[in-house]
Amino acid sequence: MRHNLGVMAPPNEEDRWLGALVEALDDSWTVERVEAFAPDQLEVIAAAPPLRRSLSGFSNLRLIQSLWAGVEVILKDPGLRTDIPLARMKDPQMEASMALSVLAHVLAFHLHHDEYRRQQARSDWSQIYGVAPGERTVTFLGLGAMARPAARALRDAGFRVGAMVRSPRPDEIETFGRDQLDARLAKTDVLVNVLPVTEETRELIDADVFAELANGSAFVNVARGIHVVDDDLLAALDSGHLRHAFLDVFRTEPLPPDHPFWLHPRVTLTPHMAAPTFPPSGARFVAQQLVRLERGEPLEHLVDHDAGY
Ligand code: GLV
Repeated sequence: MRHNLGVMAPPNEEDRWLGALVEALDDSWTVERVEAFAPDQLEVIAAAPPLRRSLSGFSNLRLIQSLWAGVEVILKDPGLRTDIPLARMKDPQMEASMALSVLAHVLAFHLHHDEYRRQQARSDWSQIYGVAPGERTVTFLGLGAMARPAARALRDAGFRVGAMVRSPRPDEIETFGRDQLDARLAKTDVLVNVLPVTEETRELIDADVFAELANGSAFVNVARGIHVVDDDLLAALDSGHLRHAFLDVFRTEPLPPDHPFWLHPRVTLTPHMAAPTFPPSGARFVAQQLVRLERGEPLEHLVDHDAGY
């Protein structure tokens, strides 16, 4: 029996996804852009934001597979049916990129590269003697699939690593709940945001969070811009309380050319590339999901609509 999978991704990514999915899926699957099928012919849609059309009106849909780890854009589609399984992307290559990106930012802070960059701008040869990794605490907000390899990499490099999670549990990384966040922030040298976007996490990182952080600490945002109150972040940087921010994600992307982050001496900015999707390995995950779908086995990385991610 033949099956149909429709792809909906931004124009600069769509051909790469189509090629990778054709390569990864077995011959029983026809893979085309969503528009190539009549709506009732589609069993699976693989989608990356921004969505060019609503996910409503596909009467035979059995799975919506996000091509991104973050699903907040898909969840905002008013036509989304909660009775159709929606799965997040789970791509080992993305997770490995995320680990390297977070490691790079934490090491840049630990080795004072941010301060040397500012010194270089004024030809200042001042040597800064730092501390051992074991004297630095890195606190993750979130410990999902995207955060865990990064947290492990930092722990293995000798840093003290903890993570705020919804339900604290015994874990290879020390976890704690939201109620302990303030106490933890005071001992944090680097705060790393890897949260999903939910009603509880939107604008969670505000003036209060920055004020609680240890003086001279750093902030790394590799999750979403909407988690942060930008003016509060700028105020914390301007006062010097926060030594540096490493920002990969923004409330508006691309970041508008006149945004103060661009030229801020205490900001290192990357264009949402900490963990880019990698179609060849992402498509292999989709292929495994489709095998599970065909066999009636439980699908992986399903979104919990109540939790909001
Ligand atoms: C990228 O930001 C993603 O959610 O995959």
